Amino acid sequence: MRRNIVTGNWKMNLNHSDSTRLIDEINTKEIHLDVELIVAPPSIYLSSLHKKQHHFSLSAQNIHFEENGAFTGEISAEMLSSLNINYAIVGHSERRSMFHETDEIIFKKVKSLLKYNVNPIFCCGELKEEREEGRAFEVVSNQLNYLLSDLKEDQIRKIIIAYEPVWAIGTGLTASPEDAQKMHKHIRESLADQFSLKTAENIAILYGGSCKPENAKDIFSQEDIDGGLIGGASLDCNSFLSIANSFS
Ligand code: 13P
Repeated sequence: MRRNIVTGNWKMNLNHSDSTRLIDEINTKEIHLDVELIVAPPSIYLSSLHKKQHHFSLSAQNIHFEENGAFTGEISAEMLSSLNINYAIVGHSERRSMFHETDEIIFKKVKSLLKYNVNPIFCCGELKEEREEGRAFEVVSNQLNYLLSDLKEDQIRKIIIAYEPVWAIGTGLTASPEDAQKMHKHIRESLADQFSLKTAENIAILYGGSCKPENAKDIFSQEDIDGGLIGGASLDCNSFLSIANSFS
């Protein structure tokens, strides 16, 4: 049985007291027992928020693929592991576009996380023009390529995949539940082809891109959508928890 997962990606938002307040508020709320909640704050807060985590897990938003060394400003998988942080987002489209991260770099990050037993939340998704040109499936398949060809079955089982159509991120546009489902099904079928149906059935595939309390129920009701990677709406406790409680 795969898990229902809702992850809040705070991106570069909230000062320390606001972030502490938001976590304190999340801690007071009820969530369904069958939903796993993950919060990805800016890395500077991971250590202090870790002491407060209650019924959710913490994730980093990014890492460097090297374990240590002269990489000013970066953090590594080993550092996360030493803090008992269980997740890290990799390959977010903002990292791909603004920080020129290639599929190869992202794959090195995945490998480093797996080495230190930190679960990667691997993001993929197409640009608006790529969807309009009918290339969305091809683009996502190419982004998944390293995972599918170079990972072993026990490694892929540790990964959460987040499909985030780039044109839907922070724009208020969302993929229709049906279009999102088609892509999630495509991803799951690719996993089944490369590994096994059993493994594919156990990997959580999250949807991200303007997911809000108003649309989460419809999106999460799709067969291959196992939750969400939430940006803007995760900065408000009520919106975030309302999304987390949208599974039927
Ligand atoms: P929004 O929910 O703000 O569109 O952001 C999605 C996202 O990028 C989550 O990683």
